[in-house]
Amino acid sequence: MNSTGRTAGAIPQIVVLDAGGQYCHLITRKVRELSVYAEIRASETPAAELAGAKGIIISGGPASVYAEGSPTVDPAIFGCGAAVLGICYGQQLMAYLMGGGVRQGVKGEYGLAFADLDNSVPLFRGTDTRQQVWMSHRDQVDTVPPGFRVLGGTDTCRIGAMGDTARGLYGVHTKQGAQILSNFLFTVCACEKDWDPKHQVPALEQHVRDVAGDRNVFFFVSGGVDSTVAYTLCLRALGDARVRGAYVDTGLMREGETDFVRGVFESVGTHGLAVESAGKKFLSALAGIRDPEKKRNIIGEKFVEVQERILQSGHFLDGNWILGQGTIYPDTIESGGTSKADVIKTHHNRVAGIQRLIAENRIVEPLNLLYKDEVRDVGRDLGLPEELLQRHPFPGPGLAIRCLCAEIDEPLTPRPEGWLVPVRSVGVQGDERSYRSVLALEAFPSPQANLQARGTDLINSIGGINRVIALVETKVPLREVEVRQSELRAVRLDRLRRADAIVRRLVGESGFEGEVWQFPVILVPAGTPDLPDSVVLRPIHSVDGMTAQSVSMPEALLRGMSAEILEVEGVCAVFYDLTHKPPGTIEWE
Ligand code: XMP
Repeated sequence: MNSTGRTAGAIPQIVVLDAGGQYCHLITRKVRELSVYAEIRASETPAAELAGAKGIIISGGPASVYAEGSPTVDPAIFGCGAAVLGICYGQQLMAYLMGGGVRQGVKGEYGLAFADLDNSVPLFRGTDTRQQVWMSHRDQVDTVPPGFRVLGGTDTCRIGAMGDTARGLYGVHTKQGAQILSNFLFTVCACEKDWDPKHQVPALEQHVRDVAGDRNVFFFVSGGVDSTVAYTLCLRALGDARVRGAYVDTGLMREGETDFVRGVFESVGTHGLAVESAGKKFLSALAGIRDPEKKRNIIGEKFVEVQERILQSGHFLDGNWILGQGTIYPDTIESGGTSKADVIKTHHNRVAGIQRLIAENRIVEPLNLLYKDEVRDVGRDLGLPEELLQRHPFPGPGLAIRCLCAEIDEPLTPRPEGWLVPVRSVGVQGDERSYRSVLALEAFPSPQANLQARGTDLINSIGGINRVIALVETKVPLREVEVRQSELRAVRLDRLRRADAIVRRLVGESGFEGEVWQFPVILVPAGTPDLPDSVVLRPIHSVDGMTAQSVSMPEALLRGMSAEILEVEGVCAVFYDLTHKPPGTIEWE
């Protein structure tokens, strides 16, 4: 059995073949939302290994069928008894492999378009004949393979949909269409509803017992949703005496974080959580370090040291212990698109002791087939507090990467559009990491509408910047503000912690919390000798952190928040980050 109570290696009703990027996750989640269990497999998986699936979906992806090394599928899947739906790139691949024609993209149609769909075929039953579809400027199918017919298209993309209804093979060029997906599952493939993320707890507990046998489980917990849910599952499955956890307080946490984590673990009834206070070690190792990647590396190294020591001193590497982890599904699937992308920021560090446990297969990851939303459902079933389950993601290196440091004193430079602030922040431009200056707009006109669009235009037109912020309020005119030589010190971290706590409280009380995916608060060393720092607010929308949009905040909330932040000792001004991702990343470092 695997962690969802299915037999390990068993083929689910729907298999999504990963043709790159994050699309395969999007589709898999949509299928599961329709109560049908789906899993992802590598696109090249031999048809024989997919036997038993009722339907196969070939996901979209950024590749071109003509590019060397682009993802492909075993052509035998088109005759293996399962229905096949190719979406976007998947449609092109289907056409290409089955003898149709694909035209290489020049500058075609992109954006929203209307496709005329033949809704007499099962796949489109119940849909409007005229559908809004999302077109991209990539390749297009221009002749259908033998046996197929054209089922819909737009003016410039003639073959927006194609199919061979007798064989249950379809290709569509839309990522939308819940109705189309539902028709594929229930009409074309005759799937049964077999998935409900609620009521998974008994199967997940059984999985933990099966893997653990008579061994105990040890966890490093972070206070985040995944590790807490995984720990609680193990606790329920094995009992308090057999589960131990350690939480490392790096001193780079948000205000009240360690107490919050303690409280959550007490509420689930464990006595096995140890809190390791390592703040001094982290802070002294970070003294004088300003480069974002260096900060990350040092924090990673310290983590490794502390974790190794905990593993050794608790004898958790001995034979009767295994390691529990809160790994979730997207982390276990290596997605073509993301694995090839430039490493924008280093996210993980590997502890030798953990590597050894993994190599020896002494590891239990009860959530490794679940998506985040499904993990939350499991957490709800376990009675974990909503406050924990709805937490926004928070980066492992903590406040260290939200507290910018500068090498020298340097004034802001006036420009026709605003002020160039001589600090650099990380961005992602054309799949590559950038590390560039920030432009500050001096006025924050109300209403805020379209400020973000203005930001995008400015980044495109002014070279050398990757981020635009707007001044909300300042105690000192910007012409008197300087970026000041600065380090990562306790006093600045406390300042940031105060500002961050104000934001969190107001965002929670106002309900705005539910409107954003994450709300980083950043400390920038721009100010005066008496008021050396400024605060940047960065509320964003995102689905998975890969891309993000800067979002506007209600005016009254923004004004109230900024007034309160300006009361924090040492804070000179409050800014608002208008930058989407790309070109800026969510975090500044
Ligand atoms: P970026 O800044 O790359 O962030 O747009 C995307 C998401 O990842 C989080 N993030 C991190 N998480 N360790 C983490 O555990 C890190 O070093 C790290 N850097 C960024 C970030 O908060 C956002 O949710």
